[in-house]
Amino acid sequence: MSKVPRLSPHLDARFGNTTQEVLLINLAFGTRILAQEDSWDKLQALQNGDADLSDKWLERAHRARLVLTGEEDWPDFVHRMDLSMREYISSHTGEVLEAAADREELLNRLARTEKLYREHSMPQPYQGPAEHVGPLMTKPVRLVDFIFDHCRAFLEHDLEDQSEDLDVHLVKLFFDRPALKLRYEQQFCIPRTTQLRARRIIDALKPGSRVLVLGDDDLVGLALVEMTDTLQVDILELDADLVAFLKERSNNRFTILEHNLRHGVPDSMKDKYDAVTTDPPYADDGMRFFLECAKTSLKKNDESRLFLSTFPGLLESPEKFWSDLDELGLHILQQQNHFSRYVYNNMYRVQHLAAFRHLGSPINPTTDLIGFPFLYAHFFECGLKVD
Ligand SMILES: C[S@@+](CC[C@H](N)C(=O)[O-])C[C@H]1O[C@@H](n2cnc3c(N)ncnc32)[C@H](O)[C@@H]1O
Repeated sequence: MSKVPRLSPHLDARFGNTTQEVLLINLAFGTRILAQEDSWDKLQALQNGDADLSDKWLERAHRARLVLTGEEDWPDFVHRMDLSMREYISSHTGEVLEAAADREELLNRLARTEKLYREHSMPQPYQGPAEHVGPLMTKPVRLVDFIFDHCRAFLEHDLEDQSEDLDVHLVKLFFDRPALKLRYEQQFCIPRTTQLRARRIIDALKPGSRVLVLGDDDLVGLALVEMTDTLQVDILELDADLVAFLKERSNNRFTILEHNLRHGVPDSMKDKYDAVTTDPPYADDGMRFFLECAKTSLKKNDESRLFLSTFPGLLESPEKFWSDLDELGLHILQQQNHFSRYVYNNMYRVQHLAAFRHLGSPINPTTDLIGFPFLYAHFFECGLKVD
């Protein structure tokens, strides 16, 4: 390693094939390495700037892209995407293009591809019975908006991300979390997103503030109490496994209750909180009752805050989200786009590609365009209008 190494901001960990086996993963590159007993300590030492850089396991972690020096080549899917865009541009303009030399060139190429795609390759709205398909099939322009937006977000914010602030301790604390459950619409964000969200919330609130987390597969409640002891945190969550996991780690630093928000918040929690944080479901109905629960539990004053993560472009109906916020008296004070990252898993990718194909878009460059690793969501800080 010739330059000073740092830990990738996209580090995560999972169980391997056995419960003894821990895989450390770079989510942006899709690369992984088996952890050894002392790997966490070595990664922590690296973050503290006192690692032994001649260590063999750290060398391997560097080759697996957990440890970065800033001199690494791009992930393979970026090269494939570049090639696919060159071929696509060439097929429409006859121009012959060299491989992109830098990120700016990739971004320009993506803009050209997007323009041509919207002229020549748009999926056509599904014409069959609307109850059989989702909103992206009947309005596939939303699918196109989403893939170009997320692809651009990855190239702009993540491809060469040099941040060095990942909290290894949180990654370790989160790694044996319960598996994701689709029936509860779970889709947890990557550890660094949880860390940054918790930081935003801590920085915005006064010591002693009461915070309610509505649904916590993102483990923001846990991060909040790990990162500060000045907030009082309560969590409401439906998933019994997640509740058990969080209870085990709570050490009485937060209260967690197994509860279905479809029934509203318990009476004892109404008008009690200085802040609520949530990452609600993307279906209209789920979004509505999560927002109602948020509003009901907030203290009725204009200092109360809702910290909300969502991506309007992928909601069942974005217009309903804006009108729900308005009706409930929640107004946006700050918005940070592409703040949250979630693994874009192959199940969703295959579904999206099947939709493109079915609606008449070409397999190339679509397949390579949807090779980006993260789904993104915006972060909204909302205030409450009080009469
Ligand atoms: C709704 S999910 C996250 C959805 C995510 N933003 C997405 O991409 O679809 C957030 C959390 O809410 C929990 N949850 C889902 N339905 C719930 C309900 N009715 N009551 C309480 N928690 C619920 C989930 O278990 C999860 O931990």
